Amino acid sequence: MIAIRRPAPPGDPERVPAEALHSTAPAGEDGDAVHVLTLHHEVMRTLFDLAAATPPEGEARLAVLDELAGEMDMHEKIEHEIFYPAVRRVTGMVPAAGAEHRQLADQLAILLTLDTASAEFDSHLRALRNAVEHHAGTEEREMFAAARSLGRTELLRLGRELADRLEELRRARTQRLIRLGRQVALERGRGRLGRAVHPRG
Ligand SMILES: [Fe+2]
Ligand SMILES: [Fe+2]
Repeated sequence: MIAIRRPAPPGDPERVPAEALHSTAPAGEDGDAVHVLTLHHEVMRTLFDLAAATPPEGEARLAVLDELAGEMDMHEKIEHEIFYPAVRRVTGMVPAAGAEHRQLADQLAILLTLDTASAEFDSHLRALRNAVEHHAGTEEREMFAAARSLGRTELLRLGRELADRLEELRRARTQRLIRLGRQVALERGRGRLGRAVHPRG
């Protein structure tokens, strides 16, 4: 399902302290909602590490950034659609968490406008990573702990629903990228055709 493994973190003195990066909360039973969401948090942490470790200029950083933006967007969706409505019954944390999602989306939108080779980008990337870590860490330590009172059966049912929806969103995203790729190829083809019909000089 989620196959990205967390690499050894690159050296970065301004990173969040290691002890703050890892929640002490249990990761949940295999396949339950806590397990699925904790794994997905790890995917995002890995992508932040990769984004910081890739050369500032070039396609690699852009590709990682695209993945990160996609995963953050999908994570927000599955929590809003499935997990938050379920845990609203057992915790009062949902409104604050929703507000944090909006803040994270705003920060991400700003990051995506910046030149990836600029110092401003590095600073915004660190700020977003810290904000995501604060949000995800709070979910893992407090919200997921509260979610346990929903019971094992319900957490497993929610876990299946979250994993299925995540896969569905990933497939839809892949399809969009394929369509976009075809469109770009078509435009390039038209460009070549245009130059053949109306050669410059
Ligand atoms: Fe969240
Ligand atoms: Fe989360």
